[in-house]
This record gives sequence, structure tokens and C-alpha cells, in this order.
Amino acid sequence: MYHNTIDHEHSDILIIDDTPANLQLLSSILKDRGYEVRAVVSGEMGLIAARTVMPDLILLDVKMPEMDGYEVCKELKDDAKLRDIPVIFISSLEETLDKVKAFHVGGVDYITKPFQVEEVIARVETQLTLYNVYRQAQQAATQRERERLARDLHDAVSQTLFSVSMEAETLLYQHQDNPRIIEPSLRHIYKLSQAALAEMRLLFFELRSEALAKTKLNDLLTHLAHKLGARTNANVSLNTEEIPPLAPQVHTAYYRIAQEALNNIITHAEATDVRIDLTHGADGIKLLIEDNGKGFCLNDVPADRFGLLNMRERAEIINANLQIDSMPGRGTVIALLWNPSNGGRPNADY
Ligand SMILES: Nc1ncnc2c1ncn2[C@@H]1O[C@H](COP(=O)(O)OP(=O)(O)O)[C@@H](O)[C@H]1O
Ligand SMILES: [Mg+2]
Repeated sequence: MYHNTIDHEHSDILIIDDTPANLQLLSSILKDRGYEVRAVVSGEMGLIAARTVMPDLILLDVKMPEMDGYEVCKELKDDAKLRDIPVIFISSLEETLDKVKAFHVGGVDYITKPFQVEEVIARVETQLTLYNVYRQAQQAATQRERERLARDLHDAVSQTLFSVSMEAETLLYQHQDNPRIIEPSLRHIYKLSQAALAEMRLLFFELRSEALAKTKLNDLLTHLAHKLGARTNANVSLNTEEIPPLAPQVHTAYYRIAQEALNNIITHAEATDVRIDLTHGADGIKLLIEDNGKGFCLNDVPADRFGLLNMRERAEIINANLQIDSMPGRGTVIALLWNPSNGGRPNADY
């Protein structure tokens, strides 16, 4: 007897198989268990059916004329909306399944004709359970991300706006007695409101990744620099050159690495000067982030810290060179270099 805690009653299963007899047999096994079943006789129809209404699971025959099961599976996995749906391959003893290929294209399991009723049900239920657990985990992750954004909105934006209104209110009382006080306060208000706008834009990018992808790196760095300027007492100097359009993953990597580095400056550095340079030279596109803060010893970073690790990982994925130099009392330098011409890691140190 197969037990699990999740109710699969209304799960929608799509069967793609060119042999009507198989379709009928599988359909009746699964319908008897209370599943919604849709059956189609070709890969092309299967893809249309899956795109029209997303199934919870797909049973996919390996050997079909026109598009075979491997091709169908590959197309499913290339479609961002459909890629997570579990695919179980169906093969018969004659048409042996290439298991390596089946897993390689994204299949999660297989069943062999002639079908054993209990086996079909057990494999289907296992995959439905795993898929449900996965979806719940995704929802939880999305929820956590929302909570983080809500906290950032509160901490950053509300607090900055609160400071702005306090400053403005003080100004209202003071301006008649002491006109000279107005200029520095106005400057401060200007800086704070710029920072609030920058924070709002950054949070907006977190919510909409397409917007992040479409915004020039120079502009993103400007927002990050404004945020840094408002959250710390450091003088921030930002120098950016026009750079050629970057591939999306390179663009994102540059942004995320800059974001991580600047967040570290906000939380750890206590710097008075920060320099951010984005330059485009013969050796590639270089991002340099330098602070004169308290620095740290790379060997002493505890293993449960992920910011620097994430930066390294992101650089590695785009095949860029990332150098992190820091010493207690001597500040920190982060240098990221990516060369578009070879698309790869520059050999020489720079
Ligand atoms: N710019 C910096 N100035 C001073 N210390 C830093 C700086 N960047 C990183 N660090 C140190 O390196 C540690 C690891 O950083 P990171 O991997 O980003 O983790 P986290 O920021 O979560 O602590 C930090 O805890 C801090 O001690
Ligand atoms: Mg960090």
C-alpha cells in the first residue's frame, strides 16, 4: 500500500503516446485513481496541450514518429513556464530507453511496458509528491523574499523619508531666526531624498528582473552609490564610462557583485572614502570598488558567510576575474574584470 499525506485527487496528468492502446490503458489506470487525465497521440500535440493548461505531471512515450520523447522533453525543459513539470518516460522492452539520455534531457523517472498497475501508480504518486514539496518550497522562498523587501522598504525608505520630514520641520521653525542654517540643511534634505529615490528604484529592480536587465549598469551603479552615500558618512566618488551592451548574465553578475560589495561597505567598513570605477579598456570591462575602511583578513572570514562567496561564484559563472584585496586597517579593494573579446577569464593578473 502506498501512503502519502498529499491529496493528489485533482492532479492533472498529461499522457503523450502514439499508441492508442497504451493511452487507453494508462488513462484508465490513472482515472480509476481519481486523476484528471488528458491523452494525446503526438509530441507536437503534447506541447500544445501542456502550454494551454499546465499539467502537474507528464507521461511521455520515448519512441514516436516525428518528434520523439527526448525532443519533446527537451522542448518542455527549454520553456521557463513548463520546465519544472516532472516528466516520466514510457518505454517498452523492445524499444529500450536510453536512461542516460532520458535523465540528461530532464526526465525524472521511467516506466516500462507492459505496465504493472501498482508500479505506474507508485511512480506517478512519488513524482507528484516531490513536485508538490518543490512548489511549496518555492512559495516559501518567494514569501521570504517578499518579507525581506518589505523590511528593506521599511528600514531604508521609511526611515530616510522620516529624516527628510524631521529636517524639513526643523527648518520651518528655524528659518526666520537664522537664514544661514538653511543651506546645509537643504543640502542634507536633497541628499536624503535622492537616497530615498535610489532605494525605491533598487527595490523596484528586485521586484522586476526585466527592469533590472534593461537598465544600464552605469545607472544601476549610480543608484547603489546614492544608497551608500545616504547610509554611511563616506564620501562616495563614482566614475563610470560608457560600456558596450552586456549579455544578460554578465550584466546581472556585475550588478550583483557591486551590490554585495557596497552592502559590505555599509555594514562592515566604516569607511570615510569610497571609490567606484567602471572602465572599459583594452583588457576588458573593469569594475573597481575601493574603500578606506577597517579592512579584514580573508582567512578569518567565518565559513557561514556567503556574500564574498556569492561574488566569487557569480564571477566564475561568467568567466570573469575577481580579486578581493583587504587587510585590517588598510581598506578593501574589489576588482572585477571581464573580457568581452574572448568571453573569458583574462590570463594575466592586473
Ligand atoms: N568592505 C569591507 N570592509 C570591512 N570588512 C569587510 C568588508 N567586506 C567584507 N568584510 C568582512 O568580511 C566578512 C564576510 O563578508 P560577507 O561574505 O559579505 O558576509 P556578511 O556580510 O554576511 O558578514 C564580513 O563579515 C566582514 O567581516
Ligand atoms: Mg556581506
